[in-house]
This record gives sequence, C-alpha cells and structure tokens, in this order.
Amino acid sequence: MQVTRREFLAANAALAAAVLPGALLAALQAETPAAPDLSTWERVRAQFSLDPALMHLASFFIASHPVPVRDAIEGYRRAIDRNPFHVVEHGLFAEAEHNVQMKVQAEVADYLGARPQDVCLTGNTTTGLALVYHGLPLKAGDEVLCTTHDHYSHHESIRLANQRSGATMRMVPLYSDAATASTDAMVDALLKGIGPKTRVVGLTWVHSSTGMRLPIRELAAALRARSGPPLLLVVDGVHGLGSTDETVAGLGCDYFCAGTHKWMFAPRGTGLVWANADNWARLRPVIPSFSDLDQYQAWERQAPVASPTNADRMAPGGFHAFEHQWATAAAFAMHRQMGRARVAGRIRELNDQCKAGLAANPKVKLHTPISPGLSAGLVAFEVAGVSPADVVRQLFARNIVASTSPYAVTYARLAPSLVNTADEVERAVRAVREISGRA
Ligand SMILES: Cc1ncc(COP(=O)(O)O)c(C=O)c1O
Repeated sequence: MQVTRREFLAANAALAAAVLPGALLAALQAETPAAPDLSTWERVRAQFSLDPALMHLASFFIASHPVPVRDAIEGYRRAIDRNPFHVVEHGLFAEAEHNVQMKVQAEVADYLGARPQDVCLTGNTTTGLALVYHGLPLKAGDEVLCTTHDHYSHHESIRLANQRSGATMRMVPLYSDAATASTDAMVDALLKGIGPKTRVVGLTWVHSSTGMRLPIRELAAALRARSGPPLLLVVDGVHGLGSTDETVAGLGCDYFCAGTHKWMFAPRGTGLVWANADNWARLRPVIPSFSDLDQYQAWERQAPVASPTNADRMAPGGFHAFEHQWATAAAFAMHRQMGRARVAGRIRELNDQCKAGLAANPKVKLHTPISPGLSAGLVAFEVAGVSPADVVRQLFARNIVASTSPYAVTYARLAPSLVNTADEVERAVRAVREISGRA
C-alpha cells in the first residue's frame, strides 16, 4: 500500500501540526518560469550552459542540467533553504494533491507508460540494480545469467547479492563482434546460455562498451516463449532511456533500472526502477523506506509488514538532496515537450552521420552496428595504430570531448546527442581522420 502521506504525517503529532495547506506547490509553481520554446534544436541546445569552446561528445556520461532543470532545482533549493522542515516534510508526506514526490512519480510514469505507484525513485542506475538483485529471493542452487557486455555496476550488483544469497552468476557473450551481430543470433546465444539453474537474466539495453542496442523486446519474448521454469529479466536501461522512442513498460522486461542523469538530463544523482506490481511483490526491501505507510506502521507495532512489497517500499529512504530528486519532473516534462520520437530521430540522425563518416575511413574499425535498430546514441570505434586513450587525448587537443569505454577491452567513443549539431559531428569525423593519418 502506498503511503497516504497525511496518515504518515498523522502518525507523528509533531509532524502533523506542521502540514501546510497546499501552499508549497502553488508558491513553487508561481516561481517557476514558463516552459521554454524547444521547437528547434538550436533552442534546445540553448538550454545548456556547456563550455562553448569545447565540442561535447561524451554527454551521456553525466548530464549538464538544462535551464528548466536548473530553474526547478533552484526553486526547490530556495524553498528548502527558507524553511527546510515544512518544505521537505510537506513535499514528502502531504496527500497526493500536494505531494511533490508523488508528482515526480506521475511525470516519470507518464514517460515510461507506467503507473505512478510502480515507479521507484533511486539515486542512479547502480543503486537500482543493487536494490533489485539484493531484493530478489534467490538462494543457493539458483543462478543469475548475465552477459559479458554488462557494466561493472551490473556485474558487481549481482556478485554482491550472490555473496549473501549463495546463488551463482554466469556470463555469456551475445556476440563476438557487435558490428555484425544480428537479432536472431543474439536471441539464439541467450537461449543457449540458459541453464537448468537459471532463474534470473540480466541484460543491458545499450552497451556502453560497443554502442550495441539490444533488441530487448525480442529477447524478452524469446525468454517468455521457452519452456522451463519462468525467468525474471532485469534490464540496465540507462543508455536507452531518453535516446530511443520506446515505451519502457512495454519492453517486456520485469525490472528496468536506469539513471535519469544521463540522456534524460534530470539532476545528477537521480534514477529509477520500474517493475509491475507482481514483480515488486517478489522483492525483499533492502533500505528502510520513507514513503511506505505499511512499513512504518509495522515498525510502530513491531510486527511484520503484511502487505506485498511495492515500488515505494523499495525506494531508499532517509533524506536526500530533494531539490535534485524533485527537479527530475522538470527533465521529464522537457522530454515530453520535445517529443520522444523527435528526440530519438535527432539522436539517430546525428549518430548515423557519425557512423557513416567513421566507416568511410579505412583506418577506423567501427564496433557499433550501422543498423539504427541495433544502436542508439553511442559510437564505439578503434583507429589503427592509435590506442583508444590516445584517440581521446588527440581529440581533446582539438577541443573535442570524447571518452573511452570503461571495460577490460576498451574503445574510443563519440556520442552525438541533443547538445550537438551536424557540423560538430562532421568536424569530429574529420578530426578522427586526421588522427588516423588519413587527412
Ligand atoms: C551501461 C551502464 N550501466 C550503468 C552505469 C552507471 O550509471 P549510474 O551512474 O547511473 O549508476 C553506466 C555508466 O555510465 C553504464 O554505462
């Protein structure tokens, strides 16, 4: 059961006395500037205060806050600094109409195609993955199957949880060369990887190692269609959320974990987990929640919680940087205003251009699939005779911010996004040509 925050408040007379009659939201709304014009990409780019001397092609790493997010953070910060007790207590615990955290869940849910009560707010992807894997009721004899392509945060969340539960972990590759991988071959590799003990499968939507975007829908459907014990699918979705035109709740995964401080441009230190009510109910909470009334009342009675686990009960409690958490709604509203299909189309256009430009260079080995269906906003590549770290250094010497992938096998990455132009992509491709000695 979701906290009826008024009740949560009423549980404590001192807190109950402090309820504000809905004034907080009204005051904040009055302070918040009208949504900016985002009708052109130039206007979207103008929302970011990125250093204009640099070309930013690694923005997926951590967001620069756009104007609507900076304004929202600043509005909440001012309000909290003026009256920390009332603003935080009210924003967290007021009834739905005036509850800021619930408004964030509603805005996020709208984008995910989900129910607000199924959205769990976290601090980043890593926390979400750790909450899910530690929450799953795995035991000795069970196995979590993941892939060799997943991020450190994913592998280590599984490993740390297994150290407690006694379950084991196995990794399989879905491809040997991302650039030539096909959906059928990846589905086949995943199904072949499943063993008799496999209970949970962990996948990553967009691999930050190669830029591969996994066909999650097809993989999820194949997992469901196979015979044998049902499997739960956990997805690290951080580089697909905000870069693709997909409805998360319809992807077919059971648990979707993502930071919102990358492609969504939400405040740094924000993220989410989505699952449906049945899958939330399977989890054992890890961190005491501040938004679940049943858990709080069970504590008061010193009795076990009777109702099933839900998203709110899984949300890490304690006080947070609420000006950041609450300003998440502004980022999702900005994406809603820009339009998911339009955003995905723009990212695709710039990445297609980047891939085509790099692929035309015989000294470049492109690791990201050319197919837009199997890629998103990242382009991973190697330059013959130049280490990935050197490629990135030499790009930076030309004022181009690129990155290397933080994996055992590392590549250089360019990640054209909404903060870039076609001209910038062209200049970056030309710079790689110079670095490769093909200028
Ligand atoms: C695929 C993937 N998963 C997880 C993370 C960690 O993200 P977060 O900072 O949101 O925990 C990263 C980092 O960039 C990543 O590339």
